[in-house]
Formats: sequence, structure tokens, C-alpha cells
Amino acid sequence: MQLIQTAEAMRDEAEAARRKGRRLALVPTMGALHDGHRALVRRARKEAGHVTVSIFVNPTQFGPGEDLDTYPRDLDGDLDALETLGGVDAVFAPSAEEMYPLGAPQAWVEVEGLTDTLNGPHRPGHFRGVTTVVAKLFHLCRPHVGVFGEKDAQQLVILRRMARELHFGTEVAGVPTQREADGLACSSRNAYLSEEERAQAPVLAEAVCAAHGLIAGATEEQPAETVVGRMRAILGNAPLAEPQYVAVVGARDLQPLDAIVPGQDVLAATAVFFGDTRLIDNVFVTAGSG
Ligand code: PAJ
Repeated sequence: MQLIQTAEAMRDEAEAARRKGRRLALVPTMGALHDGHRALVRRARKEAGHVTVSIFVNPTQFGPGEDLDTYPRDLDGDLDALETLGGVDAVFAPSAEEMYPLGAPQAWVEVEGLTDTLNGPHRPGHFRGVTTVVAKLFHLCRPHVGVFGEKDAQQLVILRRMARELHFGTEVAGVPTQREADGLACSSRNAYLSEEERAQAPVLAEAVCAAHGLIAGATEEQPAETVVGRMRAILGNAPLAEPQYVAVVGARDLQPLDAIVPGQDVLAATAVFFGDTRLIDNVFVTAGSG
């Protein structure tokens, strides 16, 4: 497993692998690796003969007052974890100066239309930061396939649109959300939770699981509000949970739905604060699929 820390060396390595006729996969991460990231690497290994994992805490996707400074960073621990997992050819771990040589970015990549719902209004500029850094990573790592988690469902949908619209020639693959034994979606931010908050955090999973059941069971048209109401009621059982949004949207356009129609692909999603810690959970489901 090679550790690569400059943009130029990354581009050379990717070019060399392409010249050997390899199919390249990239797993972009911000490090503090957990089982969710490991599932992405396993999927990348199935998709391609050459796997790169990038580790970069991207400053441009954090808003003022968000957790850029406190975000967990442990490059050595992450490298050990990837060695143990195996099957990773290269780790790209650039500095902020390497990714943004002029300091603040002078060019942005922005996807329109999918960023005005769910997390978008609550995290202004967040998705612009994500699409800009992933575009840079795609240019440097030249992947045939980029592997992302359904845990960040809106990010996945936006990046798929970006890759198609801008002709990256990179397929965007989605991996189902990996969970702790009690259902809580694996996340680097779970480490911020107090014992009491951690005990109540599985309520997000309960809410999206209930939404999954209601939507999958919708063999007739029904108001989306029924699902939203059920999710809110479940979240209300956790005294420390402060929901930011609870929504049922179309799986591809991410626009809020009034009604759920059998056969429709739907995303049920929520963001919840526990103290200062913001957790999200989502589920993709086809209405009436049983
Ligand atoms: P990060 O939060 O480190 O997540 C990296 C990848 O792991 C993302 O594709 C995310 O959806 C996926 N992931 C996180 N938790 C998961 C879980 N429980 N199950 C399955 N997949 C999970 O997302 C980012 O970093 C950044 O925005 C990034 C894309 C790297 C751009 O900076």
C-alpha cells in the first residue's frame, strides 16, 4: 500500500495504473475510518483491480461554527486499519495546501437543484465544498468508479449528477449504510456523543426503519405526512433528540413529496441534534415493494 501525499504523485500513480489496463476505484473519505468506510473499500475491491482510498478533511465543506477544528484526525491509525483490511493499493492523504494551492478555492463545482432540500438549507455551501473536492479527487485519481455510502444519501445523489453532467467518465456506486449492533449508523461523529446521548441515538435508525416499513407497505397512495408524522413521533421518544428536519422526498430529485405512490422510489431522511452533535440517517425504498 503506497502512501501518496502530493497531487502530482497521485496523478502519476493513477496514470501508471491506467496504462497497465487496470480498472481504478476511488473511495473518498475524511478519515477516522470505521466499518462504514471498510464496507466501501470491500465494494471497491469487487468493482476494480486497483483501489485508492483518499483521506482528506476538506475545509471547504465545513461551515462557520461547524466541527472542522475538532474533526477526528488519525492518519497513522487509518493507515493501520487499511493495511489490516488489505486490498488497498494507494492511500492519497494530501495537505490542505496541496488540494487548495491558492488558499481559498478560486474555482468551484456546483450542482444545482439537488442542494436546496434536506441538508442543503441547513448547511449553506456544504455541498459546493463536497462537489468541488470530489471533482478535484476524480481529476487526480482518475477512477473508473467512485464508491460512496448511502448514509450520506443526498451527497450520493448530488455526486452521481455531477459525474454525469460533467462527463467525468466515472461511475458513482452506492453502498448500503453500515450500522452498529443497536442500529445506529456508523459515523466518525458518533465519537462526540456523551454516554446518555449515545444511548438515545439509535432513535434515528428506529425512525427510518419505521419509514421503510410504512413506505414499502404502501400498496395504495397515501399522504407523505403519515410517514413524516410517524418518524417525528419516534424521534420524540428520545428526550435529548432535537430534530432539524424530517422529510420524505423523491429518491432522484430529492424534492418533497405530498403523496407516496406505489412503484415510486422514495428517500426518507432525518437530521437530529444531540447537543452540538448533528447526526443524519436515511433510507431509500420503493413504495409498495413489500
Ligand atoms: P466521510 O464522512 O469520511 O465519509 C466517506 C464515505 O463513507 C462517504 O461516501 C460516506 O457516505 C460513507 N459512509 C459514512 N458512514 C457510512 C456508513 N455508516 N455506512 C456506509 N457508508 C458510510 O462523506 C465524506 O467523508 C466527505 O463528504 C467526502 C465525500 C470524502 C468529501 O470530502
